[in-house]
Amino acid sequence: MKQQTMQTTPKKKRLSRAASSIEPSGIRRFFDLAATMKDCISLGVGEPDFVTPWNVREASMASLEQGYTSYTSNAGMIELRTAIGEYMLDRFGVDYDPEEEMIVTVGASEAIDLAIRATIDPGDEVLVATPAFVSYEPLVTMSGAVPIPVPTDASTDFKLTKERLEAAITDRSRAVILSFPNNPTGAVMNDVELQAIAEVAEAYDLLVFSDEIYAELSYDTQHTAFSALERMRDRTVLISGFSKAFAMTGWRLGFVCAPTDITQAMLKIHQYSLMCAPTPAQHGALEALRNGREIVEKMTNSYRARRNYIVHALNEAGLSCRFPGGSFYAFPSVEATGMDDETFAEQLLIEEKVAVVPGTVFGKGGEGHVRCSYATSMDALQTATARIEAFVQRHAQ
Ligand SMILES: Cc1ncc(COP(=O)(O)O)c(C=O)c1O
Repeated sequence: MKQQTMQTTPKKKRLSRAASSIEPSGIRRFFDLAATMKDCISLGVGEPDFVTPWNVREASMASLEQGYTSYTSNAGMIELRTAIGEYMLDRFGVDYDPEEEMIVTVGASEAIDLAIRATIDPGDEVLVATPAFVSYEPLVTMSGAVPIPVPTDASTDFKLTKERLEAAITDRSRAVILSFPNNPTGAVMNDVELQAIAEVAEAYDLLVFSDEIYAELSYDTQHTAFSALERMRDRTVLISGFSKAFAMTGWRLGFVCAPTDITQAMLKIHQYSLMCAPTPAQHGALEALRNGREIVEKMTNSYRARRNYIVHALNEAGLSCRFPGGSFYAFPSVEATGMDDETFAEQLLIEEKVAVVPGTVFGKGGEGHVRCSYATSMDALQTATARIEAFVQRHAQ
């Protein structure tokens, strides 16, 4: 028989100030709404539509068969860190010591959190180039620091400029978070453009958290790692991971490279909160690095073709859309409909069953745009863009 218990109203507060200070992710709300609809095409998801390459899955299964089920070193398997080091050097020309300057993390998400928690104090200001990945500002807020958005916009192709960054700096500025290729705009910054940001970082003694998880998904130019720029290695925390390029979102595997003092501070937090990244996933990632390059190239070529298609189709449909150089998002303006981005996304979902994400979810500078992920099948993209065209025609002003 169920025991009857007296319910008492708790008198002490139950929620931390940190948790109370942030809102749930706006992306979730759209996902949840779309999930309830039949025949809905989602351009909302920020993950590859490919299944993780077979050899990677096989390597992970083999590791389980062989009984690798224990913790690894806190910083991650040394074989994996060594492979990451070789990959970073070979692919992006940056050299990190796997013993001292690298941690394998639970996704790039954990690396971002660690970077902030290991270096930023309450009251500090952290500049965030926006629109940006939804985690940055809440993570800064939860650390007691103050996120300061530095908006980019269509007038600069959603690239951060030296002038904008400089204008946002105060005595309390400690760090800047960059992410190019960008989520949600698809913007990339080349070495000359990044060099201008590097000069500001040096002049104002800022740390740079450079989230380069989309580095492989640069379609027209070679990616520049921020720490490869002159004199930037010592002030850069380079964040990356396997989710996007290697189609491994569910594996929860990322990594961070930074000077020893910063990685060792990050490692202390990591070892108390996570212990280590999942062991089978680390074995898979090792295989991805050793034998995954060709597949990454194939997937990247496929995204490039889909980008070319969707950008053209969105412009044809009447939504002005720049040609994004990287990641797998198009970020068209919805101005032609006279709607704000939230209304556009909601009405498009209701009327045409196409899910896109309103730009305001990604912070300042995202207003008036929507994020369309093209990491979905060509068939779905064709149907979705036809539906968008019908919607825009009905609502064009
Ligand atoms: C810019 C950016 N950084 C980090 C992440 C999270 O990556 P992970 O799956 O490795 O935690 C995402 C995911 O969408 C992202 O867009």
